[in-house]
Amino acid sequence: MATTATQAKPGEARAPGPTYQQAILRDSSPPPPAFLEDSYTFDSDADIPYTNYTSREYAQAEFEKLWPRVWQMACREEHIPEPGDFHVYDIGHLSAIVTRTPSGAIKAFVNACMHRGTALKLPDEWSYCESFRCPFHGWTFSLDGELIDLPEGWDFPHVTGDSHRLRELRVGTWGGFVFVNFDPHAESLETFLGVLPEHFRDFHIEDRYVETHVRKRLPVNWKAAEEAFMEAYHVKETHAGGREFSEPITTYDIFPPNVNRFIHTIGAHNPRRPVPLTEQQLLEQMWGRRGPADAACPTLPEGMTARDFYARHVQQQLGQQYDQDFSHYSTAQTLDSIEYFLFPNFFIFPGLSLPMAYRFRPDPQDPDYSYFDLYFLRPKHPENAPPPPPEPLLLDIQDSYTLAEGLGALGAVYDQDTDNMAAQTRGFKTCQKGGQTLGNYQESRIRHVHARVNDYVRG
Ligand code: FES
Ligand SMILES: [Fe+2]
Repeated sequence: MATTATQAKPGEARAPGPTYQQAILRDSSPPPPAFLEDSYTFDSDADIPYTNYTSREYAQAEFEKLWPRVWQMACREEHIPEPGDFHVYDIGHLSAIVTRTPSGAIKAFVNACMHRGTALKLPDEWSYCESFRCPFHGWTFSLDGELIDLPEGWDFPHVTGDSHRLRELRVGTWGGFVFVNFDPHAESLETFLGVLPEHFRDFHIEDRYVETHVRKRLPVNWKAAEEAFMEAYHVKETHAGGREFSEPITTYDIFPPNVNRFIHTIGAHNPRRPVPLTEQQLLEQMWGRRGPADAACPTLPEGMTARDFYARHVQQQLGQQYDQDFSHYSTAQTLDSIEYFLFPNFFIFPGLSLPMAYRFRPDPQDPDYSYFDLYFLRPKHPENAPPPPPEPLLLDIQDSYTLAEGLGALGAVYDQDTDNMAAQTRGFKTCQKGGQTLGNYQESRIRHVHARVNDYVRG
């Protein structure tokens, strides 16, 4: 077995070659300071029990102790632009109606009638109404939650508009996303977000719009589903058939308590290649995989790196497509896969060419299944109103991401990511080892997720 485990202490070893921070300092444009931060500490190398994924008791503990207490992304602000627009967010057996009130404020209510509990709106419903009218006996609540119509009120002298208001939930916004929290005593969203606002200062994600939205059912526990996107260790085998490509050089960072990230290079030299590619060959490789199919790869100007050249090309191409100037983005901001995670279930990529957000949710009935919302967020035009957000394209387990036209060539990549999931669920149950073994560095974000879930489940 080949290993490179030469470190003095666990967690100190790094892949051969430059670190991500060293690699991007070769770019002609300075990266944002946050990209140069290195925030890793070794925690443990103990196995992660498979029961964290498979046990119904563990899932039940998550539903009782985790999900009711954490901030979760419910929708984008542009999903509810006008008073009366509403969006239902469901997590486990909890359900929230997020709405825009007549004053323009965003509020969230428990999705249950104050008479006999009937859910007022359907799961994941996204629509418009003038008030929330219960389909059972017609109790009606204003957009501010007040009980405004009580049929046959003579029988309810003990009920007033105020005594039976809809239960209001904590709500907060950041970057154009609307978050809800079912815990009235939760810390503020601002505190929960930790470093995110500071790290995203240059990206203005509040000025993006949802271009594509796909929701897929996955045959694996929600944690394993999101963990499939938390490391670049799988790239060579899952996406490149075992071959070496030019990437990635990756930084993995934990920003306690709730944020972690990876950033990996696109188009940098691969230190694992015995004979390094020339910069022209690097450009040809990127062009072949990502460039326009109908145009030959250009010759790299003297003294320019493939990354810098290709970043300018991407800025121009997206600039034309979205009628904007992206030349202020650095090479790393333009090209790299910049993935931030907010515990417990939200990912956001603020980069220019990989502009995604992910949200994962457990199946309330079965810990072996989950739901994955995938969004593409593009920069809004400074003057022209963006198109309204699309209805999500719903994919079942067997459906290919290539059905989602908006994903382009990435559809096949998401198929590769999700094709391993059923096998992982089967393996969890037959593997006699009892738990999964993680790399100390490359899989540190996965350990972080489990540590945080355990904080809630056992705490
Ligand atoms: S349960 Fe809603 S009006 Fe009766
Ligand atoms: Fe992947």
